[in-house]
Parts: sequence; C-alpha cells; structure tokens
Amino acid sequence: MKPNRVKFAVFLLVISAATPMLAQNGAAIYKSKCQMCHMADGSGNKAMKVPAFSPNASAASLIAITRKGISPRMPAYAGKLTDAQMKAVVAYIKTLK
Ligand code: HEC
Repeated sequence: MKPNRVKFAVFLLVISAATPMLAQNGAAIYKSKCQMCHMADGSGNKAMKVPAFSPNASAASLIAITRKGISPRMPAYAGKLTDAQMKAVVAYIKTLK
C-alpha cells in the first residue's frame, strides 16, 4: 500500500470506531445526569413536569437547550459538560424512542 492509502485506512478505522463510542459515551452521561428527570426512554416525567423530548427538534437546538437550561426546572450544563459531551448525550437522546 502507498503511504496515503495507509493514512486513509487509519482515518476510516478511527471514524468507524468513534461513532459508536460517541453514542456509548452519551448513554453513560444520560444515565448519570439526565435519566432521573427525563426517564430511561426520554418520555419525561409527569409528576416532575418533565416533557418528552420533541421528536422534531434538531440536534443543534437540543444541544443549545442543554447548554443554557430552561429556568427554573431544566438545569444548564454549560461548564458542567464539555461541548463534546453535550453532543454525545444529544446523539444518544436521538437514538431513544
Ligand atoms: C432536575 C431535572 C432535570 C435534569 C437532571 C435534566 N433535565 Fe432536561 N428538562 C427538565 C425539564 C423540567 C424540562 C422542561 C423545561 C420546560 O419546558 O420548562 C427539560 C427539558 C429539556 C430539553 C428540551 C426538550 C425539548 O424537546 O424541548 C432538553 C433537550 C433537555 N431537557 C436535555 C437534558 C439533558 C441532556 C440532561 C442531562 C445532561 C437533562 N436535560 C437533565 C428537567 C431536567
């Protein structure tokens, strides 16, 4: 193989390994930080007035909400989760349903 092909093969390996890792990492974050209010399946919790995730909301808007929170009941995660972690947890939320 030519050096460029080797680089490309390594690149593909890294991408294919990173995608499931992102969702797995997101699942761990979700279970430890979000599930107590949003429930395991993301359906929310009537007693705690947590709605189900809007199915049509874009990942970008869910990340923005996660970052800023919704006063007073949805905590803001700016400074508590990194951008990569918010992206991973929202990728996981998108797999729920
Ligand atoms: C203390 C309970 C609580 C925790 C913990 C919590 N949330 Fe929430 N979340 C809420 C409530 C309540 C709302 C609805 C707020 C409203 O509409 O006033 C909400 C709304 C949201 C929304 C908007 C839903 C939509 O589709 O419009 C997103 C996205 C969200 N939360 C993400 C997260 C993520 C990600 C985590 C974990 C990192 C998390 N939340 C942890 C209580 C919580």
